[in-house]
Amino acid sequence: MRLVPGAAGRPAVSEPYSHLEGAIIVLRMIPRVFGACRRVGLCAVLLVLCAGAARAQEPRVPYVPTPREVVDRMLQMAKVTANDYLIDLGSGDGRIVVTAASKLGTRGFGVDINPVRVTEALENAQKAGVTDKVAFYQRDLFQTDLSQATVITMYLLPRVNMELRPKLLDLKPGTRIVSHDFSMDDWKPDASVRLDVKEKYGNAGGQSDVFLWVVPAKVAGNWRWELPGGGKDAKPLVYEVVLSQTFQAVSGSATIGGRMAALQNIRLTGGEMQFTITADLGAGPVKQEFKGTVEGDAVSGSAMFSGARAQGRYEWNAIRAAPAQQPITTR
Ligand SMILES: C[S@@+](CC[C@H](N)C(=O)[O-])C[C@H]1O[C@@H](n2cnc3c(N)ncnc32)[C@H](O)[C@@H]1O
Repeated sequence: MRLVPGAAGRPAVSEPYSHLEGAIIVLRMIPRVFGACRRVGLCAVLLVLCAGAARAQEPRVPYVPTPREVVDRMLQMAKVTANDYLIDLGSGDGRIVVTAASKLGTRGFGVDINPVRVTEALENAQKAGVTDKVAFYQRDLFQTDLSQATVITMYLLPRVNMELRPKLLDLKPGTRIVSHDFSMDDWKPDASVRLDVKEKYGNAGGQSDVFLWVVPAKVAGNWRWELPGGGKDAKPLVYEVVLSQTFQAVSGSATIGGRMAALQNIRLTGGEMQFTITADLGAGPVKQEFKGTVEGDAVSGSAMFSGARAQGRYEWNAIRAAPAQQPITTR
């Protein structure tokens, strides 16, 4: 076992060696000269591999419950309602799932690797009278299907969050993720708060951070759409916009009829995208505010035009000609 030091005030965690690391250590110890010794060595290798497999079931994170007021704040920040489906990864005594069900009517489930925690969580669900809304499973959080979730909650560790990050980024756009105390490195949260909490670390008191992310739609690529031009016989305006993306941060450039136009104020929250294009459409500058919902390679919404001689609202439908090959993270 290796000991990984915890950050100040946070519990340290012990990690098992990987199977490969264990196997290499034993192989190095095998005397190459004697066949009998080799057979003993082979047995040792198998033992290490088996032990490794067993250790993979060990908790990757120690049990530390989230204080009640932090649970409430997590649910508040994610704007959890009865229409949500909440999954708590490493659910401990079930307090997050049970609180969401009893206070807000939310359905969901929790998974924990430790059967004692799962039994506690089931008892707590029973006491709160929410067994029709929630479930708890003894399961490795990495082997858990998250596709049903509209909200994911977690109180894990920075490295575990980072291991989960690619899977979280692939969830449905708009899924909210709330983490107690630990962030996700360069995927900056959409919101965060720091609280002074009396109940922290068994009433020792301390601070809790809560981070919220909204899974962004994947919008990088070349988008194209047309809008009616001004006047009776005017040709439609052809818009071409190239977007690049790092998590929820989006930048890009635009042309209208092949001429550069200013693309500004791009905002992406889940699947909701908005931006402004300002261009001279023949009679002075026109500010065009686009708002729409991204569904795969299509966006639909509306465009609001305001300028000296061009005003009004238009239906906006864009398609992506060339999706980006790059993932939305640079890692
Ligand atoms: C810090 S506690 C958080 C408990 C609860 N979510 C809360 O906020 O009160 C982390 C929990 O994760 C569980 N856990 C650790 N590794 C796990 C894994 N690989 N799969 C599922 N649960 C795990 C632990 O047993 C522990 O109950």
